[in-house]
Amino acid sequence: MSSVSISLTGESRRYDVLVGAGISADARGHQHGRDRVAVLADRRVTALHGPLLDGAPTLEVEAGESLKTMDGLGRALEFCAASGLSRRSLLIAYGGGTVGDLGGLAASLFKRGIDVLQVPTTLLAQVDASVGGKTAINLPSGKNLAGTFHQPAGVLCDTNLLVTLDDAELSSGLGEVIKTAIIGGDETLTLVERLTPQLLDRDPAALAEIVEACVRVKARVVLSDHEERGPRRVLNLGHTFAHAIEHAAGFGAVPHGVAVGVGLALAAHASERTLGAPGSLTERTVRLLDRAGLPCSLEALREAYGLAGQLTPAALRDGLNHDKKGQVGAPEFVLARGEGDVIMGLHLGEDLLSELLA
Ligand SMILES: NC(=O)c1ccc[n+]([C@@H]2O[C@H](COP(=O)([O-])OP(=O)(O)OC[C@H]3O[C@@H](n4cnc5c(N)ncnc54)[C@H](O)[C@@H]3O)[C@@H](O)[C@H]2O)c1
Ligand SMILES: [Zn+2]
Repeated sequence: MSSVSISLTGESRRYDVLVGAGISADARGHQHGRDRVAVLADRRVTALHGPLLDGAPTLEVEAGESLKTMDGLGRALEFCAASGLSRRSLLIAYGGGTVGDLGGLAASLFKRGIDVLQVPTTLLAQVDASVGGKTAINLPSGKNLAGTFHQPAGVLCDTNLLVTLDDAELSSGLGEVIKTAIIGGDETLTLVERLTPQLLDRDPAALAEIVEACVRVKARVVLSDHEERGPRRVLNLGHTFAHAIEHAAGFGAVPHGVAVGVGLALAAHASERTLGAPGSLTERTVRLLDRAGLPCSLEALREAYGLAGQLTPAALRDGLNHDKKGQVGAPEFVLARGEGDVIMGLHLGEDLLSELLA
């Protein structure tokens, strides 16, 4: 079993991210020294894989964006209270990114902050959401608008749990994997290219290798900037376009990682045009997206999801203005000049934008 250890600079907290087939059994070890442990769990995951901890109070929830609401947060906090959790207790989030985001936020608020252990069960959550300490719920005015930074006590990425992911959820995770690989550089990208067939077969060993590689890349970035004031924003590669797509399509209509995939292709074209990035990186990105079963252009996305009426150039241009990471009226982009060479805070001209969003 392999493990990756992450320590956060500028903070006393150090936590380990453990990756491996069967590693979620380690959750038991996290009970030591705790007065109480409670689990916030995705109902679908417990139905497929059984409860994470026998005997521990468990709140089963329906995963999805509708969980990340004030109401969902209230229920999670009430559950902490009803379970008698204290500052010496542990809350475990057992599910995909929506359960992890909600569990992390509830833990950061309950009694002004208790520990949370993340046991992510989707590929997206293992390679991205569970590491780095960002938590959030959505507001009616936008996604992830209310949240905190709350580093977990630990993260257990059990790749055995990923075998039950449906195709859409697996591909969505692969979108973030490809993003992370471009940020990581040539070696990570080559590894993902080599293992894509096994990943599509949900081979736990290949999944473990990829999750570990991605966690290492994310750890490297997060370590240098745990509150997202600077370098951490490289993780938003492809995301300005992706958020515009999600906004124009209506949240939930396109899985996040699928939108990220198209965003990566658009970002690659934009970098060729503005940064003189080599066409080879664009080709590599598009080929990998294609092999992962992800749409590699707006055209392909519109067709695959029947969204020609929603993903119009005007709606997408409007969506760019809603991206919370950019300034009003002037969306900011993160682009790759080459493998592992990512630049942030870029603005693109209106002519190029209309061409890309056509
Ligand atoms: N905090 C961060 O840094 C961060 C980063 C990226 C994304 N996110 C958030 O993550 C969320 C998306 O995460 P997600 O895609 O995991 O969503 P999700 O939690 O909604 O899970 C997606 C679907 O997969 C199902 N599922 C989960 N585990 C499964 C398993 N092992 N087998 C079969 N089905 C399973 C769920 O029931 C759900 O239907 C978004 O809300 C996003 O904002 C957060
Ligand atoms: Zn993302």
